[in-house]
Amino acid sequence: MPIKIALSRARPLSFSADLVAVGMLEGAKRSSIVRELSDAIGPSVAKTIKRAEFTGKPGQSCEVATGGAVRAARVLLVGLGKADNLDYADVRRFAANAARRAAQSRCESLGIALPEVEMEGLARAAAEGAVFGSYRYERFKTNDSRVKYPLERVTLLTSDKVSDGLRRDAELGERVGQAICIARDLINDPPNELYPDALAKFATALAKKYKSAGLSCTVLDDKQLTQKGMLLLEAVGRGSVRRPRFIHLKYRPNNSKKKLKRLVFVGKGLTFDTGGICIKPAPGMEEMKGDMGGAANILALMAAVAETKPEAEIHGLVASAENMPDGNAYRPGDIFKSYQGKTVEIINTDAEGRLALADALAYGVELEPDLLLDNATLTGAMVVALGPAVSGFYTNRDELARTFKDAADEAGEAMWHMPLVDDYREKLKSDWADLKHMGDRWGGSITAALFLREFVGNAPWIHVDIAGPSMADKHYDIYSKGGTGAGVLTYLKLIDRMLAGQK
Ligand code: BES
Ligand code: MN
Ligand code: ZN
Repeated sequence: MPIKIALSRARPLSFSADLVAVGMLEGAKRSSIVRELSDAIGPSVAKTIKRAEFTGKPGQSCEVATGGAVRAARVLLVGLGKADNLDYADVRRFAANAARRAAQSRCESLGIALPEVEMEGLARAAAEGAVFGSYRYERFKTNDSRVKYPLERVTLLTSDKVSDGLRRDAELGERVGQAICIARDLINDPPNELYPDALAKFATALAKKYKSAGLSCTVLDDKQLTQKGMLLLEAVGRGSVRRPRFIHLKYRPNNSKKKLKRLVFVGKGLTFDTGGICIKPAPGMEEMKGDMGGAANILALMAAVAETKPEAEIHGLVASAENMPDGNAYRPGDIFKSYQGKTVEIINTDAEGRLALADALAYGVELEPDLLLDNATLTGAMVVALGPAVSGFYTNRDELARTFKDAADEAGEAMWHMPLVDDYREKLKSDWADLKHMGDRWGGSITAALFLREFVGNAPWIHVDIAGPSMADKHYDIYSKGGTGAGVLTYLKLIDRMLAGQK
C-alpha cells in the first residue's frame, strides 16, 4: 500500500507522530527547533547533535528521542544544506531522506515540517519526496519477509493556514510521485512476469485508467511489426517465445482546439537482455531484467503527464522485446532492412537496444515531432564513462542541449552532455549493408548515439543513455535500491520549458 499524505497546521514538536522530521540549514546557529527541544528535554540535545557530527549538510540526519517531553516521540533533524540556494529539488530530497529514515526505524507515522521558505510548489516537492523515500517493492515477499511496521501516514506540517492551494499542491505531489514509482515497480518486476506483452497490457490498462485525462494506447504485435516493416525490432525479439511488441501511448488534453506542440518520448523496452547468441557472462546477468528502464520511464512519464495535464500533445513510444539465444535467434552477419529504409549488418547481438530504438525513432519521426527524445539503458560504456549515478545525453541541436541540461539541474537529476563525434561515424561503415550497428570498443556510447542519429532525420532529437542511473545497487539521493525511474523528473521539467517557448 502506498503512503497517505495529509497536511496540518501544527508546530513540529506538538504534532503527535512516531517521528517528526525538521530540516536544518547548514551552519545555522542554534535554530529555533534545537532551542525548543533543549528547553523541553535539556542539555542532552546539544550533546546528541554534536556527537552525530550533524552540521546540516544535505544527506545528514540526527535523531533525538524526546522521552515524552513533547508530543512527537522522536525528532529527526535533517540537513538541508545552505539557505540561499534551497530549491525545489532540495526540499524533495529532504522529504525523501526523512521518509526513508522513518521507514528504516519502523515508524508508521511521520510528520515533515515544511521548510519556511518562499517557494512555488513547496508542498508538492515535499510530497514527491515522501513518496520516493517511502517506496518499497514487496510484490514477491510473503508473510514474514514483508515489512512489519510499514510507514503509512505522512503529514506535512505548515506554520501557515492549510489553504486549498497547499492541499492541491500536496495531492499533486503525491500523485506525480506515485506515477514515477510506476517506473520503479516495472523495473523491479522479474522478467518471467514482465515480458513484452505484459508491458503492453500494462500500458493499455494505464491508458484506460487515464482515459478521461486524454490518454490512449495502441499496440502492435509481432505480426503487425513484420507487416509494417519494423524488422530490426522484430529481429531482436526473434529468439524469444515471448514475442516483441511496439507500444504507442498518446496524450492530448481534452477540449484543446489550439495547435499544440508535439513531443515524442521513446523508451528501450528489453524486458530481458541475455545478449542473445553473443551471450553475456552469467555473473550479474539478473540485472538485465532492468533493460526496460527506458520503457518504464516512458510509462511513468505518461502517467505523470495525465496527472499534470500540460497543454501539449505528448506521445510515448516503447519498443519491447526479449533478447534470447535460440535456434531462431538473429545472429552476427545477418542483414535486416530497418523501418526507416536503411539496411543494417548485425555485428554483435548484444548491441540490441539501438536496433529496437532505431525502428521506434523512425516511427517517431513520422509524427513530425517538435521534440523527439529517446532514453535507454543502452551501453555499459556509458557507465564506464560517467559512473552509476550520471546519465549521458546527446543531441543534434545545440540550443536543446542547454534547455535539457537546465531541466535536469532544476529536476535535481545528474545528466551530462556528451559529444556526437562526427569523425567516429566511419566506424559504422559496413562492407555488406548501408551500415553496421556498432564500432569498436572505444567511445562505445558515442557510436551507439551516432547509430541512432541515422534514424531521426531532421527532427530535434535528444538521446539519453540511462544505463547507470536506471538501477541503483543501493539507495542514494531520492532513489531506492533497484529501479529508480531516474530521468522522468527531468523530462517533466523539459516539457514545462518547451511549453514556455524554450527551444
Ligand atoms: N543493456 C546493455 C547495456 C547495459 C549494460 C545496461 C550495463 C545497463 C548496465 C546493452 O544492450 C548491451 O549489452 N550493450 C553492450 C554493447 C556492446 C555489445 C557494443 C555493452 O555495453 O557491452
Ligand atoms: Mn545487450
Ligand atoms: Zn540491452
